[in-house]
Amino acid sequence: MALKLTRRQFIASGSAMAALGLPRANAQDHIALRARVADVQLLPKEYDQTRIWGYDGMAPGPEIRVAQGGRVQRRLVNELPDPTSTHWHGIRIDNAMDGVSGLTQAAVKPGESFDYDFVVPDAGTYWYHAHNRSFEQVARGLQGALIVEEPDAIDIDREEVLVLDDWLVDPESLQIADTFGATGDLSHGGRIGNLVTTNGTYGLAKSAKRHERLRLRLISASNARVFQLGLDGLEGWVVAMDGMPLAQPRPVNGPFLLAPAQRLDLIVDVTAEVGSAGHIVNQGREASFSQVVFNVTDGGTRARRGTPTALPPNDHAMPELASARHLELLMEGGAMGRLGGAMMDGKMSSIDELVAAGNFWAFNGAVGGMDGPALADLSLGETVRLKITNETVFPHAMHLHGVHFHEIEPDGSLGALRDTTLLDRGDVREIAFVADNPGKWLLHCHMLSHAASGMMTRVDVT
Ligand code: C2O
Ligand code: CU
Repeated sequence: MALKLTRRQFIASGSAMAALGLPRANAQDHIALRARVADVQLLPKEYDQTRIWGYDGMAPGPEIRVAQGGRVQRRLVNELPDPTSTHWHGIRIDNAMDGVSGLTQAAVKPGESFDYDFVVPDAGTYWYHAHNRSFEQVARGLQGALIVEEPDAIDIDREEVLVLDDWLVDPESLQIADTFGATGDLSHGGRIGNLVTTNGTYGLAKSAKRHERLRLRLISASNARVFQLGLDGLEGWVVAMDGMPLAQPRPVNGPFLLAPAQRLDLIVDVTAEVGSAGHIVNQGREASFSQVVFNVTDGGTRARRGTPTALPPNDHAMPELASARHLELLMEGGAMGRLGGAMMDGKMSSIDELVAAGNFWAFNGAVGGMDGPALADLSLGETVRLKITNETVFPHAMHLHGVHFHEIEPDGSLGALRDTTLLDRGDVREIAFVADNPGKWLLHCHMLSHAASGMMTRVDVT
């Protein structure tokens, strides 16, 4: 047998990769991920199809699943009429692969492509989404799940990835309302949809066995809606938030929130009787309804297993709070706010000038964007303690790229690791992180209309 391998075969061979100390690559390198226009059955079957923009023509796009420490290689092929890019939300990624148009790469023009190639250091539930005109492109459907598996199987019967979303559909045309960037969305609570889906389906139904133990990976791809959810006929524990395992599983005893871009991993036992159903309940403002139904079809014989054990932790540097650098971020503006003016493009501007330019929000007295001065220039390895104050009358889901941060508990201790933290009106939240990933990292509101109208800044780590 001839042992001469081409370089390509050599690189593709897993054992060769291991010998080189490189992570094992996918069987084919750079699988295409085509961002394109498609018609899908978003509404219940008796209605017409709706035109979306989706990865491989689907929303959510194809699930990407990889082992912890593995490598993701995707060729984003832009078949859309507009430029785009793809962000891998929550991955502690190499900055050049972060997918932020205008910051870490140029937007990929229609007909062109871009190769993403990165290693995933942490196990957990992540997602990917468009990061150019996100307030439009994510709302049109450019998002999907990115799942990083723990090295050892956990004690469950099976898992379900559940991408929650809401769509603003024009009731006349049954098409996605072409009102992106509407002033009312920018200045108020953001673009809130009128059709709530899970995995692109209205009223998603699954079946389950009694006493079955499921891992539910909840992902919110919503532009602005904060889901308030509950469990019925399911007994559950939160085991991870934004991909990161909790030290102790936390029993679900009542309603819980899932803000835009956040993830929750639940382990649930099916406690509903055979012939009835378990539900993830959406506790809306006016009425509650079933977000996902699990029809209990069959008598499972297994006994209940009790509190699940914690997922294995990901390896994170511990912030040294005592020596941390203190930063502050004051969030102001929006309808019913008191913002009189702010710095815009280096000039002090009146509220009328801000509004004329489509800006409604300010961070530390300046309309934010990705190319102004950074909130901070950090040196690699520095610990930061950032106090965020929400002086607006709206909730905001603040997301930091490139690292996870700890929420600081009211008693001053380090709380859960997250990449997106929800601040209700008037909230003050402190977060802490070790700036151990070099690059330019966005810090923005994940209510995507807000990010587009001033709620965006950056930390630079060198
Ligand atoms: Cu999930 Cu800057 O985004
Ligand atoms: Cu916001």
